[in-house]
Amino acid sequence: MRGFYARVFRLQSDNPGESLGIRRYSVCIAIGPAIMSLSSSELESLTALRRDLHAHPELAFEEHRTAQRVASRLAGLGLEVSTGWAGTGVVGVMSAGASGRCIALRADMDALPLDELNHFAHRSRHPGKMHACGHDGHTAMLLAGATLLARDPAFDGTVVFVFQPAEEAEGGARAMIEQGLLERYGITRVYGLHNWPGLPLGHFAVHSGTAMAGTDQFRILLKGHAAHAAMPHQGRDPVLAACALVQALQSIVARRIDPLDAAVLSVTRLHAGSAYNVIPEQAEVGGTVRTLSPATRDQVRTALEELCQGASRGYGVEIELEYRPGYPPTTNDGAEAERCAAAAARVAGAQRVHRNLPPSMGAEDFAYFLEARPGCYVWLGNGEAAGDCRLHNPRYDFNDALLPIGAAYWQAVVAAALPLAATEPRV
Ligand code: NI
Repeated sequence: MRGFYARVFRLQSDNPGESLGIRRYSVCIAIGPAIMSLSSSELESLTALRRDLHAHPELAFEEHRTAQRVASRLAGLGLEVSTGWAGTGVVGVMSAGASGRCIALRADMDALPLDELNHFAHRSRHPGKMHACGHDGHTAMLLAGATLLARDPAFDGTVVFVFQPAEEAEGGARAMIEQGLLERYGITRVYGLHNWPGLPLGHFAVHSGTAMAGTDQFRILLKGHAAHAAMPHQGRDPVLAACALVQALQSIVARRIDPLDAAVLSVTRLHAGSAYNVIPEQAEVGGTVRTLSPATRDQVRTALEELCQGASRGYGVEIELEYRPGYPPTTNDGAEAERCAAAAARVAGAQRVHRNLPPSMGAEDFAYFLEARPGCYVWLGNGEAAGDCRLHNPRYDFNDALLPIGAAYWQAVVAAALPLAATEPRV
């Protein structure tokens, strides 16, 4: 299958995958090494694996069963396998040709702490745990890509398949980077993807700059002086100060940030008191900040500090602000975005590759990889989000029709990033 081919995009309905409810795509080829398709048995096996992972979700840094299944698949494909990265992370290495170039393709493996409300056969068997973000599908798609590349390693260099733990809020990517993952293999470029409900099935979105927001948390402790509720002048009321502060915080995005920039500040926690007739000693306010650039993030943080200082003086309470920086913005390298858009176009056709969608105010820890190395993170359409099939919703499910598309995309990215000697880089 190696060589140069032209093929048309079509939807096949007469294949064995239909027995699993799968609609299988073949792929569109422009010019370049042929992109292969998964065989019916490979597709069936990977779909079964995806559903097995969905039925057995594991939370951050607890992905032991998932890691074992991934490692076993990688070993079965003949890859060099390394386990124990950040606890449960797995790495598979595939080399071809003589060049020293090395890239990483990344999937996340963790589930979310919520109860699944679906009723299909592969619904979660673990109460309070669910693959509600499609990381089961990301894992299966990267294994599918490895399957194609193992069969036809038409590239020159080394591909490191990174299966990371704890994408959801725990920073598994950062943990793997801090353990020296990038240096260990000499990784110079990094690539990631996320399924995207609401984007038509098999369509891609590739941002030239920031794709996802940075996310921080804040906790504000207001310390006043308790008093009888009938004699408020004898105390200092942290509840009143907290209420005023919550209102004032909304002025940050409304009045400090350029209207053409984007930021979110949401107060999501407000705790104080326990009795109807006691002004409490303390109140606590907490929430999240989302921004698309480090400069805006600094602006919001500075304004938050200033408003806390003002509330402290104005209401006579002591205020402690704890600001916890979280994931940075996920920002693609311009040249790598072009490379990945071209790879996506080879798979889906240029008309299905969207280049101008606004970024999401959600966050993603692939941002740490993109801080460390140039690369690109794309969205892959999971189809219409009917029936609340949205990320982090208890009725979500990954669309198995994406398995062959994701596999083809990974193969196309590798072909573009590690071209054979006779093939010029596409970017
Ligand atoms: Ni996710």
